[in-house]
Amino acid sequence: MKILGIETSCDETAAAVVEETRHGVSVLSNVISSQIDIHKKYGGVVPEVAAREHVLNILPVVNEALLKANIKNGEAPKKINAIAVTIGPGLITSLIVGIETAKVLSYAWNVPVVGINHIEGHIYANFIGDAKKTRKQKNKKTIFPTLILTVSGGHTMLVLMRGHGKYETIGETRDDAAGEAFDKAAAMMKIGYPGGPAISAYAEQLTMNNERLTIKLPRPMINSKDYDFSFSGLKTALLYELKKNPNYKLQIPNYCAEFQQAVIDVLISKTIKAAKEYKVKTVMLSGGVSANIELRKQMKKAINILDNVKFKMPDLKYTTDNAPMIATAGYYKAKRKKFTPWKKLKVDCNAEL
Ligand code: KG4
Ligand code: ZN
Repeated sequence: MKILGIETSCDETAAAVVEETRHGVSVLSNVISSQIDIHKKYGGVVPEVAAREHVLNILPVVNEALLKANIKNGEAPKKINAIAVTIGPGLITSLIVGIETAKVLSYAWNVPVVGINHIEGHIYANFIGDAKKTRKQKNKKTIFPTLILTVSGGHTMLVLMRGHGKYETIGETRDDAAGEAFDKAAAMMKIGYPGGPAISAYAEQLTMNNERLTIKLPRPMINSKDYDFSFSGLKTALLYELKKNPNYKLQIPNYCAEFQQAVIDVLISKTIKAAKEYKVKTVMLSGGVSANIELRKQMKKAINILDNVKFKMPDLKYTTDNAPMIATAGYYKAKRKKFTPWKKLKVDCNAEL
């Protein structure tokens, strides 16, 4: 079985083909046309501009994904078994481009469509690859229940997964998402967009210079009894610290390292608490912020201390928005025959898991 995945929920036009293997899926092609350079000058994604770029890019990107998967012109109706497309959450004008493309291809090729929730896609970045090669334990049932921390520009969620397609959200952010907080903090310090990679690069300088952290920021909601998060107060605390110091520009690595550590401390603390309470077998990371090297390192260390809990995180290239994750979620949904007739496929900007 081969699945074509299409992702256009925000500012990346992406398409990929994945193929069923004996124990999972492998990626045959992965094409992304990023708009970061276009939106950089505005300091964030401009929806109208993003949509126009998607319209220009979508067909060349899909075509390239097919050709790279060795599916030549005219062969797709025979070789593609399903089309997976992101239906939401995301920007309506961006999502529509991917969805309309999937509908037209479904009609023209007579191939079924699976609608994918964008968060579900991020979660399934952890399922890319042949499970036999990556799974240490022999009994494949033992990965569930799995706890997934999804941290992206739009979401911060702790999701309990009891099986494929079975999700329960146990906590989420009450205000800014973790990635959004990184982006806003970087904008306040004027160090670039997107903020996550910029903050993490500056934070690394502090470690490389063996300097000590001298700035102290709060860890919002770290001791709250629930699994919710809040990052807008942290951002405001940083703003006050910057205002207090007219020479803050000389200490950017210090501010970045403390800001990053504050976010990581809260994320790890809540994840560990939930992993223990729900007695999960596996913990997974997903979403753009899971590209953060310190978060990856520290989360792995924290989970490894727990008894009988495995830890998984996606390859770096599958952390930020990409189409193999959508195609992989599509594969597992197609196996359960969860198709949507193309006529009924609709955008759902606020889609819930
Ligand atoms: O998953 P994603 O590509 O898009 C959404 O679904 O939102 O996530 C993008 C977010 C941005 O906020 C970006 O700053 C953040 O991921 N990000 C990072 C890193 N790389 C990307 N945050 C922290 N550290 C990073 N290395
Ligand atoms: Zn995303």
